[in-house]
Amino acid sequence: MSVLSFAQKLVADRVRAGDTVIDATVGNGVDTLFLANLVGDRGLVYGFDIQEDAIAKTAARLQEHGTYHVNRIVQLIHDGHEKMLNYVEQSQRGSVAAAMFNLGYLPGSDHMHIITKAETTLVALHSALSLLRAGGVVTLVLYPGHDGGSDEALQVERSVSELSSQEFDVLCYRMLNRRGRPPYLLAIEKK
Ligand SMILES: C[S@@+](CC[C@H](N)C(=O)[O-])C[C@H]1O[C@@H](n2cnc3c(N)ncnc32)[C@H](O)[C@@H]1O
Repeated sequence: MSVLSFAQKLVADRVRAGDTVIDATVGNGVDTLFLANLVGDRGLVYGFDIQEDAIAKTAARLQEHGTYHVNRIVQLIHDGHEKMLNYVEQSQRGSVAAAMFNLGYLPGSDHMHIITKAETTLVALHSALSLLRAGGVVTLVLYPGHDGGSDEALQVERSVSELSSQEFDVLCYRMLNRRGRPPYLLAIEKK
């Protein structure tokens, strides 16, 4: 399985209809739609992106694929994921089933220089971990192949390696026989 498919599998195995979940990097909305399908019309998806056109494209994708009323099942937030605690309702804290991060830049976008950065990614990651329920999962797809990407990957890896093993299981999924610096997945499950 590709890292992206494996991230979705880990999430699908843990999310039920009616759950609250987070797409920390909406981009073209592939994961946002995937999450909306999982939680259904009783659930809630918070989606963050700093690019206005990513939010607009994702709203269009959601509408095209059916009944997902933007701002009811899916709340699309044009702001940095590092501010997620300002948006996720108090009542949802400790009950979030999954948060997905697909880091790096949006391929094919006009703004390929807009990349996620270690400093804000780490704030967002720890915010997401604080929101998880027991059995919930945070997935991060890391791209060490672009400028800045390997530093971000290293800092994220270092930070999750230090999480208490009493509280979290941390998994790394990586193709060891691929040349160069291929993307890989980190997943953190709250015990
Ligand atoms: C690899 S793309 C995400 C792809 C997306 N998951 C999809 O399925 O199409 C990374 C996205 O992160 C966004 N981004 C960068 N910094 C961010 C931040 N601080 N908060 C939220 N989104 C950010 C970029 O604008 C970009 O759209």
